[in-house]
Amino acid sequence: MRAVGVVPARREVAMFGHAKPCLTAPTDVRIRTIEVGICGTDREICSFAYGTPPDGSEYLVLGHEALGEVLEVGAGISTLKPGDLVVPTVRRPCPHPQCLPCRDERQDFCFTGDFTERGIKMTHGFMTEFFVEEERHLNLVPDELSDIAVLVEPLSVAEKALAQIWQVQQRLPWEEPLAADQPRGAGKTAVVLGAGPVGILGAKVGGFDVVYEAVGSARISFDLLKVLGMNGIFVFTGIPAQQPAIPIEADSLMRDMVLKNQVAIGTVNADRPAFQGAIRDLGVFKRRWPEATRALITGRFPMDAYRDLLLGKSTGIKNVISFG
Ligand code: BGC
Ligand code: ZN
Repeated sequence: MRAVGVVPARREVAMFGHAKPCLTAPTDVRIRTIEVGICGTDREICSFAYGTPPDGSEYLVLGHEALGEVLEVGAGISTLKPGDLVVPTVRRPCPHPQCLPCRDERQDFCFTGDFTERGIKMTHGFMTEFFVEEERHLNLVPDELSDIAVLVEPLSVAEKALAQIWQVQQRLPWEEPLAADQPRGAGKTAVVLGAGPVGILGAKVGGFDVVYEAVGSARISFDLLKVLGMNGIFVFTGIPAQQPAIPIEADSLMRDMVLKNQVAIGTVNADRPAFQGAIRDLGVFKRRWPEATRALITGRFPMDAYRDLLLGKSTGIKNVISFG
């Protein structure tokens, strides 16, 4: 079958043949790829600043934002059946028994660094016609979200960030809503930095006194850190490529962080509840803002368009490869 990926040793981005996957465990699910979103991480892997093929493979199949249809399930599967729509998570746990987060299905907090990520780090991705995945890494998507479910993975980044924000907010117990009919964070404002999908999707769940960074630029981020409010939380989600050092006003930033009780927090990736939250909230967005939500997907392209999408000028909000 066809796959799109990189050969880092030869600095090549290419479409090539890749063995069709089959079930190897009773908990495996075989999936037909429907759509794969392209993001800054993919483009960065194509500039060879990031990304690692699996051990023993010279290439890495790209793609970590996928929507697929279940074709076949192993004998041990009870929650999925052929025809179901699914979105896979990205990160896979490390093997070390002492890594408590990985053992607790919180590989987004893996502390050994030996996690893998599909389409990014040492595990092939989804930019291919079929893939196999374990049931525990798949999220069932309702059919009525089929046109936007490729956005679940980027939204899961914002969902995890929001969960982290609530945990940090617990240090301010009086900030909890006074009335039961008030949503959490009512009356607060948030600044969202970045106008790509992670930023736009994150904006729809924002609170106040929060900066949600999805721009991937340290210069812009540290400029905004200067205006973070009292007791504020600054959440970094961008992964900038290495650039020459920049001057920052470190003394005044440090003074502010202390005198204003500020927290700067980084967050990567997402756990399963964050994916499930993303699926639920995409449904909410679609009911509230049907046109705007659909318009997040700039264009759908056939697999053959991969070069332009990965190496050409970055355009629009979210471009998607459609496998038909
Ligand atoms: C993905 C994350 C991943 C990160 C770093 C992002 O584009 O959405 O799941 O952890 O890249 O590899
Ligand atoms: Zn780990």
